[in-house]
Formats: sequence, C-alpha cells, structure tokens
Amino acid sequence: EAASKGGYDHFMIKEINEQPNGVKETLVRRLDENRNIKLDNINLTKEDLDKINKVYIVACGTAYHAGLVGRYAIEKFAKIPVETDVASEFRYRDPFVDENTLLIVVSQSGETADTLAALREAKSKGARILAITNVVGSSISREADDVFYTWAGPEIAVASTKAYTTQLVSLYMIALDMAMKKGTITQEFYNQVINDLENIPSKIEEILNNSDEIEKIAEEIKEAKNAFYIGRGLDYYVAMEGALKIKEISYMHAEAFAAGELKHGTIALIEENIPVVAIASQGSLFEKMVSNMEEVKARGAYVIAVAQEGNKEVEKAADRVIYIPKVNDILASILTVIPLQLLSYYVSVKRGCDVDKPRNLAKSVTVE
Ligand code: G6P
Repeated sequence: EAASKGGYDHFMIKEINEQPNGVKETLVRRLDENRNIKLDNINLTKEDLDKINKVYIVACGTAYHAGLVGRYAIEKFAKIPVETDVASEFRYRDPFVDENTLLIVVSQSGETADTLAALREAKSKGARILAITNVVGSSISREADDVFYTWAGPEIAVASTKAYTTQLVSLYMIALDMAMKKGTITQEFYNQVINDLENIPSKIEEILNNSDEIEKIAEEIKEAKNAFYIGRGLDYYVAMEGALKIKEISYMHAEAFAAGELKHGTIALIEENIPVVAIASQGSLFEKMVSNMEEVKARGAYVIAVAQEGNKEVEKAADRVIYIPKVNDILASILTVIPLQLLSYYVSVKRGCDVDKPRNLAKSVTVE
C-alpha cells in the first residue's frame, strides 16, 4: 500500500497533488487539433438540444456540489434552465421529467445506488441520460445514453478531490459544447474559455506549491469545534464542498452558508474565535462579500479568506488570506476548492484522524 501512495503519507494528499494532471487529461483528451470539443460517443445534436427544455443534474455528495457549478455554467453559456438535485430527493419527488428532459448524472464511481435509481426513474419517463463518471464500464456508464468520462485516474481516498475538479472541467466542456451548438456564445468567447481552462493546471500547481501557508492556518484552527464556510454565487457552491470535506475527514462540525443569508438567522451562531472561511473570488459580488466578512469579524470570528491574487482589499476584513492565481471568475471554483481541500487534509492529520478511511463513510454507497 505504501508503494501505491507514491511517497505521500496518504492517498488523499497524493490525489490532491494529482489534480493538475487530472484536469489536463480531462481537457486535452476532448480537444481536437483545432481546439474544438469532441465528445466521444456523445451524440447530442443541435436538433436534440433544441428539443430539450429542461436539464436536471443529479448526484450525491461531492458530485452534487460539482453539479451546482455545472448548473451555473450551462445556464450561463447555453441558456437552458437547469435544476440540480441530490439523487435521494430527486428519485422520490416525482420530478417533472419527459422526453424533452436531459438528465445529467454525475458519479465518480458510477455505482452510487441513489444516483443509479434516479437515472432509471428518469429514463423510464423518456429522458435522455448523459453520465459523467470516472469508472469505465460502471453501472451508470452502461445504463446512460451518453457518457463523458473524467480522466482523474483511480480515486482511493474516501474524501473525493480529483474527481470533483475533473467533474467541473467536464461540466464546463459540456456547457461550452451545448452553447456552441445552440449559438448562444461566440467563437471568441469559446476560445477564451478554452484558453483559460488550459491554464488551470499550472495555476493549481501554484496553489499546491504554497501549501505550507495553508498548513499553518490548519494549525491555528485545528481545535475548533465548529467552523463556517461562506460565499456568494459560485463561491457558495465551493463553500459547500469545503465544509463537507472538513466534516468528512476531521469530524469538525462545519456548515456552508450563502453569505447574503447570514443575517436571516445564522449570524446568531458567530462567536469569539470561530473560524469562518470566506470565499471571495467573484468580482461582481466582491464588495458584498467583504461586507459579510466584516459583519462576522465584528462579532469575533476568525476570518480566513480565499481570494484572487492582487485583491488586497480583502485583507481589511480577514485575519488570514489565501490567494489563488488570477483566473476568469467563471472558472474560479476549480481553483478556490484546492486550498479548502488542503485545509481539511491538514486539520485531519493534526487531529490524528484516519484521513483516507474516515469513520462511518464508504467510498461508494451501493445501498440505499
Ligand atoms: C460517497 C463518498 C463521497 C461521494 C459520494 C458520491 O458518499 O464518500 O465522497 O461524493 O459517495 O459518490 P459518487 O461515486 O457517486 O460520485
């Protein structure tokens, strides 16, 4: 087992470090020599897309969080309404599904029982099924109409990291492809986003090279009983993933909140020294985020911000700032999640937890 960890202490940190490569592979394997997206055997034509009036993205756990980002990308690029739901809810709520529905299921393992059941339920009502999965030949890949494989490589640690970032890249590519077919974005915009995606792996690398600083922050917060993660827009979805990660592997109670919703109740929970991880990568929401950070800081919170490089203004409302390299706001989630993964990892190690095999959790949940 030690050998397969490739010199790392745990699979999780090995897999965190494999993300530049996973992201790159997922991207380059789907670009032809003219940088057009080729979607393997995915046969969603312009005619098919014109028929589709509703997209559901359905998944569990970390894959569900990727689906929230996917909703944003598809709505923004392809102008189709999208709903993202957890599979265990979707399958029992009698969702409005017919032959004009596209169901995108996201599953690292391709074996999650609830996700598979949601797929079957939607298929029986005539929906077209597109699966994003990491495992070739998995049940979900076999039952879907179309499959988009992530190229993360095997993920061993229970807490998902590289599957998430490759799922994000997949969803962005699907959104771009749909948008080009529907004519809702220009060639110029497409080229720009592809170019930005191509630059993501080296930017992830930069964050990974800075992990000492994140380890120090982990040392500062490791004794906390509770932590909160806040963000707006795409940053809120990453906040949800960050909170899940720290709960899963360090057993610290953590919750994510939409920052604008704090004042409607949750701010009552803020007390002296409680860590609040504030993700503030979105330019158009930045001022609002800073004022939310000031609100919690004024009530004694220990604010750890994640922001884009050069954005010094964030420092006035934070005790610690983790900078990510500058990036197109719409793709920022692929970067902001990396420090949150590292933070969870170091907190878990420092608390003496079983990082790769946390209590009560399974890598793949194949029973309901
Ligand atoms: C389990 C794992 C999570 C994962 C979820 C969905 O709960 O512990 O890390 O996100 O299942 O798994 P899937 O294989 O469908 O992506």
